[in-house]
Amino acid sequence: MGKLIHAKNAGLFTRAAKEFGTPVYVYDEATLIEKCRDVLAMPNAFGLHVRYAMKANSNRTLLRIVDRQGLLIDASSLNEARRAHLAGISLKKIMLTTQEVPEGEDRAELERMMLGGMKYNVCSLRQLREIAEFAKENDIGLSMRIHPGVGAGESATRNTGDDYSCFGVHRNDLEEALAFARGMGLRFNAVHTHIGSGGKPKIWRENIDRELGFVKQYFPDADTVSFGGGLKEARMPDEIAADIEELGLYAKQRVEEFFEETGRKLVMEIEPGTYVMANCGFLVTKVVDKKSTGENGFLFLIANGGMEVNTRPLLYGSRHPFYVVSQEGKLLSSDFDESTLSNRDELVVVGICCESGDSQSLDEAGQIVPRRMREPEIGDLFVIGGTGAYCSAMSPFNYNSHTQIPEVLLTAGQELKLIRRRQTLEQIVENEI
Ligand SMILES: Cc1ncc(COP(=O)(O)O)c(C=O)c1O
Repeated sequence: MGKLIHAKNAGLFTRAAKEFGTPVYVYDEATLIEKCRDVLAMPNAFGLHVRYAMKANSNRTLLRIVDRQGLLIDASSLNEARRAHLAGISLKKIMLTTQEVPEGEDRAELERMMLGGMKYNVCSLRQLREIAEFAKENDIGLSMRIHPGVGAGESATRNTGDDYSCFGVHRNDLEEALAFARGMGLRFNAVHTHIGSGGKPKIWRENIDRELGFVKQYFPDADTVSFGGGLKEARMPDEIAADIEELGLYAKQRVEEFFEETGRKLVMEIEPGTYVMANCGFLVTKVVDKKSTGENGFLFLIANGGMEVNTRPLLYGSRHPFYVVSQEGKLLSSDFDESTLSNRDELVVVGICCESGDSQSLDEAGQIVPRRMREPEIGDLFVIGGTGAYCSAMSPFNYNSHTQIPEVLLTAGQELKLIRRRQTLEQIVENEI
């Protein structure tokens, strides 16, 4: 299908809506495969590992596709790692990078998984102290995530590298951490940073230099360096995606220079989530109502899915492409086709939650920003593009007791297959006593 909706494929969304109801997420397998191949082709000096950051979307069918393409897994919690393993992915392909400090049964599970080959990325002094003896006894090499002190992200809440966020072992703790590790006889065979989500390529490049400096100064045993995720994807027509070729060539050159200086050949890792998954997903909703708030207000379009299925606009004012598709499957309006955008109508899209922030048309400050589109009829489909990453995975789907919605895969063979059922009301209440 490709990452855009156009006249030829718009009918697919009516088909999905008829077969599975709305709202529904539709994922395009062909685009996902293409994105995997794209990242795996990143230029590199002495080898490349691509870890898919499964927090972006953890559906098991999608994980399996990504796995089959040859990507490894970045898990952000023990449960994510378990989930990847439950999907059939070998523990050896998973690295856990987490803020958690597992205890009790979780700790036992962590140990079992590490003995099975899962990699552990130490993210704090406390985590290091807690895992040291186990790693030493079992001769397990570790990875360390370093807090670089500089970060970049599409918004303040997506910057994970500056001193307003606390991911990784802070540079100020590094010497203490390494002295402790030396005392215990531990090995770090990988070094990792992640500066944020969707930031500027320039800062991503600068991080490469900084991180290679850390590797040279502090990590004599490391054979792998991870530059993290955060590769910018273009969801909207005016956005520019990270240039994988250009970033890879830069990294390749710097890793080669590192080799010339030190005689050490480093394997490079990256761990994109957004870049792999964002444009594979579409959220299909139905227009259920329209209201106007008068001359000084707006024309509101009410779709039957909003913040509980795509909370990104409310969280940080993210923009997604909008499409209007008629009930008969005709594409009426697309952000990618100026000729379909009305010069007259500016609409605000809201959902059905009892929350004034339940809108898909917000800026970073939470203000409503009307968007140009052809005014739909009630019953038409309102489709939100760029919703493969951090939508299904991150949205508060039971808010207002809405049930988690189904997920459908458009297979490479153009079949629509249900890959997650709609949640039932009984499932929402089943743990309540
Ligand atoms: C440690 C780590 N790696 C990778 C990613 C993926 O980032 P993105 O989806 O921007 O590629 C994240 C996202 O927050 C992260 O925290």
